[in-house]
Amino acid sequence: MSIVLAYSGGLDTSVALHWLRERYQTDVIAYCADVGQVEDLDTVAERAMASGAKDVIVEDVRERFLTDFAMPAMAAGAAYEGKYLLAAPLSRPLIAQRLVEVAREHGADTVAHGATGKGNDQVRFYTSVRALAPELRVSAPVIDWELTSRRSEVAYAEKHGIDVGASKSTPYSIDTNIWGTSIECGDLDRIDQAPPADAWQITASAQEAPDERLVLEIEFERGVPVAIDGTRMDLVPLVSQLSGLAAAHGVGRTEILESRIVGFKSRGIYESPAATVLHAARSDLEALVLDRETLHHKRSFSERYAELVYYGYWFSDLRRALDAYCSTLAARMTGSVVVELYKGGMRCVGRTSEEFGRYDLGLADYEEGDTFDRTAGAGFAYCWALPLVPSGPMAPGTAGS
Ligand code: ARG
Ligand code: SIN
Repeated sequence: MSIVLAYSGGLDTSVALHWLRERYQTDVIAYCADVGQVEDLDTVAERAMASGAKDVIVEDVRERFLTDFAMPAMAAGAAYEGKYLLAAPLSRPLIAQRLVEVAREHGADTVAHGATGKGNDQVRFYTSVRALAPELRVSAPVIDWELTSRRSEVAYAEKHGIDVGASKSTPYSIDTNIWGTSIECGDLDRIDQAPPADAWQITASAQEAPDERLVLEIEFERGVPVAIDGTRMDLVPLVSQLSGLAAAHGVGRTEILESRIVGFKSRGIYESPAATVLHAARSDLEALVLDRETLHHKRSFSERYAELVYYGYWFSDLRRALDAYCSTLAARMTGSVVVELYKGGMRCVGRTSEEFGRYDLGLADYEEGDTFDRTAGAGFAYCWALPLVPSGPMAPGTAGS
């Protein structure tokens, strides 16, 4: 038996690595996915070896993360409970997928992760691995072991000479990737109080943001952002650059009292500066290129898609089918949107799509010589109202409002 552990370099997974090796007397391979977290990955790799890993794999999966996970969720307009752009939940199926692949390459029979038993993440890792590789065992050391507090974990680390790093002394539980940061625990659990200012990790507050607005033009091709202000970029640099700009303007903060998979409610605060801007811009472009019926129908399943992501049902036929639906529509999603970022807020203020725009100025404006046939409009209104007209003796116009 050997184990592949999803390793972050933090206290939980460093202790978990050592604990798994001792408990099962087996080799542990540390797998660290670089999804754009800020940690120094060389240090993370050294720490894995120092905690007793047989081998450590650190790989940059940011592009795969954005292309195969974040972009489809954005295409579906997915925001859990209307607000949460799902940065952490989108990364879990990717990490699980890689754990499975690495386990198969190395002949391991178990994959492990450092999520807690009260959270959503353990469910997401488990469901993803079960969907992909039902023959593998999923181990969750943080759930199994006797270390029930941070203090006991630190004591374990000290006893076994595990370096836990200096950066981990925050009272919050933080998960970061290129698509967003999630922050929980500590004083955030006092839900009647505003989040403490120091809880926010990457965005400026509205007060700190510059007094000048920032106007950007974002260009999309087939639904995917390809350029900012005319400069073409690959997704990873584009999202990183946009994230920095929007964060400086205080854009992308959100707070929800969320309904967890495991049944209870918890408060999370989220910072997703690039995702916030891109979701809004794409949705604005959609309003220009999709006809009314398609647009409304597509929007009717955004929350459902968000649930699938949040619930850990990424590897479901329903998610795949909804992606196929969105891909069909993405063929029209080429054009640009102008966004304005200012003091914590953002608005889409202009949009164009030469090939696919459905806006016809001749029909829409009220100037001399417009092309709309008003007589047809009046006839249409007559028919449209018919189902509402009361039958019986009431004279037209006397039925009240
Ligand atoms: N509650 C959030 C979710 O379920 C955050 C999960 C990861 N965040 C964290 N701080 N560990 O998606
Ligand atoms: C955890 O409990 O491991 C993090 C929070 C969550 O998964 O919801």
